[in-house]
Amino acid sequence: MYYNEKNLWQIEQKGFDERFLGKSEAIMALGNGYFGSRSSEEEAYIGEKRDTFVAGTFNSFDENEVTELPNLLDMWGMEFLINDQRFSLTQGLVSNYSKRLNLKNGELCREFIWELKDIKLKFKFQKFISKNRQHLLVSHLELANLTDRAVSIKMRSGINGQISNEGSQHFTDGEKGLTEGKFIQMMPMTTGSKIQFVQTVEHKFDIEVSERPETGRRAFFMNYNFELAADCSVTIEKRGSIYTSIDNDLASHDLNEIRKQAVHELQNIEKLTYQELLTESQLAWQKIWEKHPIKIDSENFRDQLAIRFAKYHLHAMAPAHDERMNIGAKGLSGEGYKGHTFWDTEVFMLPYFNFTHPDIAKKLVTYRYLGLDGAHKKAKSNGYEGAQYPWEAANPFDGEVTPVWGAADIVTGQSTKIWSGFIEQHITSDVAFGIKQYIDVTGDEAFEVEKAYEILIDTAKFWVSRLDYIQETDSYEIRDVIGPDEYKEHGNNNAYTNYTAHWNVVFAIDLIQKLKSQKPDIYDKLDQKFNLNLLTEILSAKVDKIFLPKATADGIIPQDDTYLSKKILDLQKYRNSDGVDSLFHDYNLEQVNQMQITKQADVLLLMLLFEGLFDKEQKLKNFNYYEPKTTHDSSLSLSTHAILSADLGKLEQSYDFFNKAINIDMGEYMKSSDAGIHAASLGGIWQMIVFGYGGLRMVESQLRIEPHLPKEWKALEYGFDYHGKAIHVELTKDKMTLSKENDGHEISFMNKGQKYVLKNQLTIKM
Ligand code: BGC
Repeated sequence: MYYNEKNLWQIEQKGFDERFLGKSEAIMALGNGYFGSRSSEEEAYIGEKRDTFVAGTFNSFDENEVTELPNLLDMWGMEFLINDQRFSLTQGLVSNYSKRLNLKNGELCREFIWELKDIKLKFKFQKFISKNRQHLLVSHLELANLTDRAVSIKMRSGINGQISNEGSQHFTDGEKGLTEGKFIQMMPMTTGSKIQFVQTVEHKFDIEVSERPETGRRAFFMNYNFELAADCSVTIEKRGSIYTSIDNDLASHDLNEIRKQAVHELQNIEKLTYQELLTESQLAWQKIWEKHPIKIDSENFRDQLAIRFAKYHLHAMAPAHDERMNIGAKGLSGEGYKGHTFWDTEVFMLPYFNFTHPDIAKKLVTYRYLGLDGAHKKAKSNGYEGAQYPWEAANPFDGEVTPVWGAADIVTGQSTKIWSGFIEQHITSDVAFGIKQYIDVTGDEAFEVEKAYEILIDTAKFWVSRLDYIQETDSYEIRDVIGPDEYKEHGNNNAYTNYTAHWNVVFAIDLIQKLKSQKPDIYDKLDQKFNLNLLTEILSAKVDKIFLPKATADGIIPQDDTYLSKKILDLQKYRNSDGVDSLFHDYNLEQVNQMQITKQADVLLLMLLFEGLFDKEQKLKNFNYYEPKTTHDSSLSLSTHAILSADLGKLEQSYDFFNKAINIDMGEYMKSSDAGIHAASLGGIWQMIVFGYGGLRMVESQLRIEPHLPKEWKALEYGFDYHGKAIHVELTKDKMTLSKENDGHEISFMNKGQKYVLKNQLTIKM
């Protein structure tokens, strides 16, 4: 990957390499939150992943497979025969190859010169997914003949449904054909969820071409023939749209009406050029860039680029249009994790949206409210009460969708069982924590009253039904779980799980009491649902007996009951390797289970999120103990370590984590992103900058701003929304200046134990 100090809005790949298609496909993925596509080359290659997904359109291939986001019929592809030679970059001579994504406007450009025998052509492809017309995609090709001889060109392009999710076919081969003589339309439908899709494509040429339609199984193409004269060029445009029968912006969901609307949309923009459509889309992106821009004055220009990279992708993948869907662990940029939503949203991405785009955050938390039924279903099927959130979520109403079988075990050769869907239960308190943070940051009372209280009480109800009573100690433990460190399965009393469950229950008890005395109307309503007196009794009877792992004599909070007694392995080899699964080339999960090896921040994440529970010395000791035992095999790990170490004054080490974290997708390792971009790590990039170095934090419902810049940074500027007010922060090593509109409102915040009140502008020396 190539990054250029002179253009901090661009990521570029110079030179084509068929072995590494996945990297640029994913990290240059296009999207507008409604749909997204990997940036595959127009012409086909072995090993490519030509994925396009529409958010929320889950389907299961058959009853033995969990629901996943289906990979749509491809609309970007184009094949060329030039003087009857197949055009491919694996043939002939390729020079000046550049593929680049413009983060500012979401346009992908790919250009190169291709020579074969007496052919010499310059290709310049440009394409984007419109940010303001959510159904639209546009692709533009300028093809120049650089020789003094004419060439004959045959181009085959259309909609290709000969595509699957790694073999699982999610669509019936629906009706297809030409509408009004020039619009190719295909109407596939998902096999199980019966979502009807309408995909429409048209082509435009600026020279005369002959054309012939060709229909095939799951495909419809147009074949165009033309001659490109010596030293001449041709411009070809392909415009397309995607609609589905679950779209919430449609006046009618009748298939014929959707088809008509799709054609009308393309007709309506007939007169607009590629550039005009791009400019419109760019304006929509501009609104995002204008909201709380981050400026980093760093020795390393990639720091600034990284935050733009992160924000671009967060907005390319967040379904800002519809609360029935959420962000997948790979966004819309790959088949990894099947488009499912994890705790990645609440703990890693939601903070960005809470503080900068509360309207989008609201959609994300509402998704969890809609997920209550699914959470009830899951609790009930496990013999519990209340709301037990699914480890992996798709359609919010469906509940748990974690697949049961995973990769092969290196020792036994058998598929490994994925236990997370059964016993990785901290997701329930993560959701509650996320909801609480959303309310604290936004002050959204309507959501609080109508939705949040219910979630916070229902999740506590789950926890008390889930606790294991231990007679000998007269306490409640939480046995047989997986904590954030997924390398420890079937552990008892994972500290993160126990402490966060305890917090969830304590919070619900306080909430119920507060509502009873201060908001009786709301209390009565909730009482009808929950029988609050009885529930309070149950919660209160158990809460103080929930076992909270205590520090050892050395000050270490045990990750679980047995972790500290396990064997220690020197992890250097694995910590320095490029891929994330190198440990499993030598050991299987059962063996890893028996060693003090941690996949990702676990106890340390607890110490970051619930910082008031532990003092600095304790955090330091635990940091020094656990970090060397952590492989950081999950992309969720590094950002937590970067922020916590910054809090602990280990700025050099923190910046080292920061650099590794921004390289998860942007780095040189070419296989990092094949399954899709790491969505949580993008939220982590924002958190490292704004929480870690900018010092912003919401701790126990109180805003705190306590910056510490790494030595490589001279200054940092960022902004955030707090209870509907926009606040701007300017930082150097020796002072911070906060400003907001002088509107009569005051905002209080803490800094180093002291309370400050911001009316308009305030400078604090550091
Ligand atoms: C991590 C989980 C994460 C999931 C999806 C796993 O590798 O261990 O914490 O939720 O990936 O990103």
